[in-house]
Amino acid sequence: FPSHDIIIMNFETIILEEKGHVCLITLNRPDKLNALNATLLNELQKALQFCAYSELCHAIIITGSGPKAFAAGADIAQLHEQNAETGADFARFGQQIFTELEYLNKPVIAAVNGFALGGGCELALACHMRFAAPQAKFGQPEVNLGIIPGYGGTQRLTKLVGRAHSMELILSGALIDSEEALRIGLVNKIFPSETLIDECMKIAELIASKAPLAISASLKAIRSAEDLGTQEGMESEAINFGEICGTMDFKEGTLAFLEKRPAQFSGH
Ligand code: COA
Repeated sequence: FPSHDIIIMNFETIILEEKGHVCLITLNRPDKLNALNATLLNELQKALQFCAYSELCHAIIITGSGPKAFAAGADIAQLHEQNAETGADFARFGQQIFTELEYLNKPVIAAVNGFALGGGCELALACHMRFAAPQAKFGQPEVNLGIIPGYGGTQRLTKLVGRAHSMELILSGALIDSEEALRIGLVNKIFPSETLIDECMKIAELIASKAPLAISASLKAIRSAEDLGTQEGMESEAINFGEICGTMDFKEGTLAFLEKRPAQFSGH
């Protein structure tokens, strides 16, 4: 990221930067392959809350620092301390943060620059889109540690890639490369390592140039395709459509088309 970009908050385990209307969150424990300890999860939650309320921020990219990893999973040292009394809450803690991410009012893109394993894969799954470098590796290797995915993997992976691929990944604990991840629909596209962030920025900037309320309404309506039955989902689409018809940006977008000029969206 070029040096003129603003570092908004300097956390201990993540970096939050703002470039125009896009926020970049970098998971920053490279010596531990960006493993998700409690501090990192708390800081990620705070950064996402900042992004949700920032009027400047229209889209978010999450990536990992260092050449090797997006995130190599929950911190196994902290995981090892869990027992039958604490385990469910350990899972709920990560689930809650990733669910907040999934329901964020702004799109979140995972720029998967290396290993996305266990909780790291689950974090990528909670994002709205995933773009990967060729060297990225994906997997749910929890069974190798004698446990199961706990940050939403059994649910989101199954919904995203279907039961057969989800079963194979979770039951075998095997890793797949980015080509295989692309083939099964786990990632949207593969970009060269050197240009991954720039390409994700281009996509984020394109989204950020649209009417922000239309983007957040799209996110809500698409979510309802998973959360609701078809009839209720249609109704959710109609309600979201109706609300957007009451916005100034809708009038501006349609008028700009009729007047053959670019739209100037205000976010209202
Ligand atoms: N939790 C805590 N620490 C982790 C970690 C994790 N999930 N993944 C990697 N690390 C640490 C290693 O312990 C090591 O720390 P050290 O240098 O203090 O010993 C450092 O990160 C580098 O990892 P290392 O294993 O030496 O790198 P590698 O290139 O040989 O192997 C992996 C890379 C990803 C294959 C390997 O680190 C791994 O299997 N990690 C665990 C993946 C996993 O099971 N995740 C699911 C957790 S639920």
